[in-house]
Amino acid sequence: MRIAILKERKVGDMRVAATPDTVRRMIALGHTVTVETGAGVGAGVRDADYASAGALVAEDVVSTLRQAALILKVRAPGEDELRACPSGAGLVGLLEPYADRASALAFAGAGLTAFAMEFIPRITRAQSMDALSSQANLAGYRSVIEGAALYGRVLPMMMTAAGTVAAAKVFVMGAGVAGLQAIATARRLGGVVSATDVRPASKEQVASLGAKFIAVEDDEFKAAETAAGYAKPMSVEYQAKQAELIASHIVKQDIVITTALIPGRPAPTLVTEAMVRSMRPGSVVVDLASAQGGNCPLSKPDEVVEIDGVKVVGFTNLPSRVAADASALYAKNILALLPLLTGDGATFQPKWDDEIVKAAALTHQGAVIHPSLKDA
Ligand code: NAI
Repeated sequence: MRIAILKERKVGDMRVAATPDTVRRMIALGHTVTVETGAGVGAGVRDADYASAGALVAEDVVSTLRQAALILKVRAPGEDELRACPSGAGLVGLLEPYADRASALAFAGAGLTAFAMEFIPRITRAQSMDALSSQANLAGYRSVIEGAALYGRVLPMMMTAAGTVAAAKVFVMGAGVAGLQAIATARRLGGVVSATDVRPASKEQVASLGAKFIAVEDDEFKAAETAAGYAKPMSVEYQAKQAELIASHIVKQDIVITTALIPGRPAPTLVTEAMVRSMRPGSVVVDLASAQGGNCPLSKPDEVVEIDGVKVVGFTNLPSRVAADASALYAKNILALLPLLTGDGATFQPKWDDEIVKAAALTHQGAVIHPSLKDA
């Protein structure tokens, strides 16, 4: 089948959905690949690199999408792109199915069979396709780098002839994929790291990375994990106890990194304005949940705001700030999914009885088919 790789148009997204390596592998599987000119620039890939891998490089959206059976994207296509998509084609991307429910209707209207990478189930067989994890891992790394760069001091303890510099205290809130990588990165940079989460399973993971675990460990905490491995929304009572504990801890922290999310819901508020104001000037809060409403009400998407000398960072797309690696991993995630979307003779033919295909499919034959979006 003809696979089309479009240039990302969402402002600030430097990633791309295929690399020369994955293009080569797709061609070896019997597909033909067209890449829009400039698609790889943000991730350090030239048109010539795609051409050497065997792709056709096309001049614009329309020619890239001509006769495409499958369209690979990082972010959801906009109106202009949708207009040029051949009806009946497949679309794969990080389509933000919860945040942007209306776009599912647009995909259906364009006759696309759309698959959201966010809905790939977290089962062992689908680990190689798990783009949420591949991107969150890099976001966790980058959050520490951003925090360290804005922090007015160093992270490791330094004993020098001119005196001793104390190690920075780093507190990571939410110890999922991003949080665990943030813990590991902050530890590597020499920070003294603590972390919190509401899922009991995270306690051991935090400890195994050498960080101190801080949490209200009551009965609600013991039941806070869903069967899918995600956090449940916590009760008002729990949140109050959690806030009290966090307030007394945060006042002593230099860098706070928040990563707490609940799928399909706004991010929980964890760092209040009073907590930010309690931190000493020069401290930094990096709110990784900024795009989902924020774990800190003061964070502004894609901005750094300063409150009483404390910087609050709301960058919404940290994986894009390491676009080359983020693209390479994301492209591999999609490559792993490809066999489930391909029939005999390398045609676009999703394997509809496969649970991964069923879970990720948003639209098909002009209709929204995902159970959680049918009323979008
Ligand atoms: P996420 O991005 O949905 O949330 C990030 C973290 O925030 C989670 O650890 C969550 O428990 C925490 N959180 C939510 N509300 C909170 C609150 N009020 N206070 C403090 N923390 C709060 O989660 P992510 O990173 O996607 O991981 C979720 C789970 O899935 C983890 O257990 C992870 O290990 C697991 N997982 C399993 C995979 C597999 O089996 N293939 C792959 C990736 C992750």
